[in-house]
Amino acid sequence: MRILKKNKFYITTPIYYVNDKPHIGHTYTTVAADVLARWNRMLGKDVFFLTGTDEHGQKIEKTAISLGKDPKEFVNEIVKFYISLWKRLNIEYSDFIRTSEKRHEDVVLKVFKKLQEKGDIYKGIYEGWYCIPDETFWTDFQVKDRKCPECGREVERMKEEAYFFRLSKYQNKILNWLEKNPDVIEPKSRYNEILSFVKNGLEDISISRKSVKWGIPVPGDPNHTIYVWIDALSNYISALDYPNGKKFKKYWPADIHLVGKEITRFHAIIWPAILFSLGLEPPKKIFAHGWWTVEGQKMSKSLGNVIDPNILIDKFGADAVRYYLLREMMFGEDGNFSEKEFISKYNTQLADELGNLVNRILILAEKYFNGKIPKKNKKINKNDLSFIGIVDNLKVKLGACFEKLQFSIALDEIWKVIQAANKYINDNKPWEEKDEKRKAEVIYNVLEAVRIIATSLYPFMPETSEKIIKYLGYKNYNFSKDNLDFGILKSGQKILRGEILFKKIEEIKENTNVSKEKNLVDILDFKKMDIRIGKIETAEEIPGSDKLLKLIVNIGEEKRQIVAGIKKQYMPGELKGKNIVVICNLKPAIIKGVKSEGMLLAAGTEPILIIPERDVKPGEKVS
Ligand code: MSP
Repeated sequence: MRILKKNKFYITTPIYYVNDKPHIGHTYTTVAADVLARWNRMLGKDVFFLTGTDEHGQKIEKTAISLGKDPKEFVNEIVKFYISLWKRLNIEYSDFIRTSEKRHEDVVLKVFKKLQEKGDIYKGIYEGWYCIPDETFWTDFQVKDRKCPECGREVERMKEEAYFFRLSKYQNKILNWLEKNPDVIEPKSRYNEILSFVKNGLEDISISRKSVKWGIPVPGDPNHTIYVWIDALSNYISALDYPNGKKFKKYWPADIHLVGKEITRFHAIIWPAILFSLGLEPPKKIFAHGWWTVEGQKMSKSLGNVIDPNILIDKFGADAVRYYLLREMMFGEDGNFSEKEFISKYNTQLADELGNLVNRILILAEKYFNGKIPKKNKKINKNDLSFIGIVDNLKVKLGACFEKLQFSIALDEIWKVIQAANKYINDNKPWEEKDEKRKAEVIYNVLEAVRIIATSLYPFMPETSEKIIKYLGYKNYNFSKDNLDFGILKSGQKILRGEILFKKIEEIKENTNVSKEKNLVDILDFKKMDIRIGKIETAEEIPGSDKLLKLIVNIGEEKRQIVAGIKKQYMPGELKGKNIVVICNLKPAIIKGVKSEGMLLAAGTEPILIIPERDVKPGEKVS
């Protein structure tokens, strides 16, 4: 049986690491993919939209261990945050792939074996920078001044046995592919970057790790686990049941991989090489979008400025979040998140321009036409040609924008129609119109423009679109590109007046909830802390310091040396035998030349130790 491929559209997001909860960066890619998927469904295409999570690797293993959890148990908890966020945002994915699922692991093993059979995998020595306390390898590219990019401690040059993939063998093939397909990587700046990188020569890459246990074991050599390249990238075909699945035959190659700019090389060089080695077609397009900063700064946990999309949804609703993310930032460029700007866009564009337009015209239809869509004139009044032209042109403009993934420009175009409709009402003043026919004509035209606006907004703001369409009296409505033509709205249909679409947010305060939120620790952060009861076994002075004492503290299964600034409040002798509260999983620090492997909890500027009311065993968890 021949499988009809012409009308399919396969779109993917990166699979997200589950070492933490999702933030607006992850949300951005997924919302953009959902918008594109919805638009392609509107075009009548058979869309397969894949997202998922990347669940293996050292970082996740470590985070799990630091929380006293099994990695599988830990990833099962985090993945729920992704699934529930996508649900809240009305992300209509076709499948959600997790790299810890058996169906994925089976495909990764098949891929590995195929590459081996092809002679593209060999065993060699991987050399890199190693951070001994973190047990992590880093590449030359990641290490600056011999310092670990994660903890800042000195790294050592180390070697480890590893499997390698012959990436170098595919250099010419990739170069040819890039040169023949100048639009395959977008934006152009990224394409040029990749092209020159490939021209400079490709080296083989290591594809296994001995030091990582939480991963898929290399077939026949379980001391090694398969590294992220093959494990993560294969998700794009494992979800389609490669090699024999119907879905694979129907949907591969991907029409578009949406990625953030930092993982372009990974997708534009390593992935096509793996596919070439497997004898498969490369993706048709890789689009790399830019990064969000927050109030001008890089978003990071240590700066405490990570924006939780759930808080934004609580405050503004899912559609406003989807709207802001795609309107504010040109797809492909970097952008800045500012809550002040969010509120300003919400108030002017959503509440004033869109919300008021819908509300106003429904009130007019209610007042003058008994809550029904008025009669449409057979012939268009020549005074309305320009307005109707603007509305009717929207579908062509949208088509061109979606073709180039220009989401913010598509929204600009829709807003031009919203503004034109508001102006048309103001210019024609139907409430003053004496001629009933003309009054009906004007109100009909605006209601019809509103229907087209709602239809074009559907990929971006599906809940809002559905509400507007319901207000226009539809019970069943097909959000399709054909419904972007002017003149379809049925006269006589009974309209509904529901709640206001966007209630204005009155207060714009400098210090909004989201920025206050910055200082809040979430439950996951708290759970990461290992706080225990410790019994002080010895305390002694540190020569040359008038504040510090060196303590040996029993925290259950081990003893820790801790440096504490309590000398002014306590004599070393009185501390012996005291039970105190200790944070045990901080990175060791050197204070005044003495190693400190934990921190005591104390209160006040002249710190007084926090001591449990009754006797508790050393090592007991504090929760
Ligand atoms: N697991 C890999 C991807 C493997 S794909 C086969 C990974 N995961 S991630 O959790 O770090 O997510 C990366 C993606 O999140 C980026 O590609 C980007 O889509 C998005 N973003 C993360 N932070 C971002 C911003 N600050 N701004 C915009 N998007 C960014 O890499």
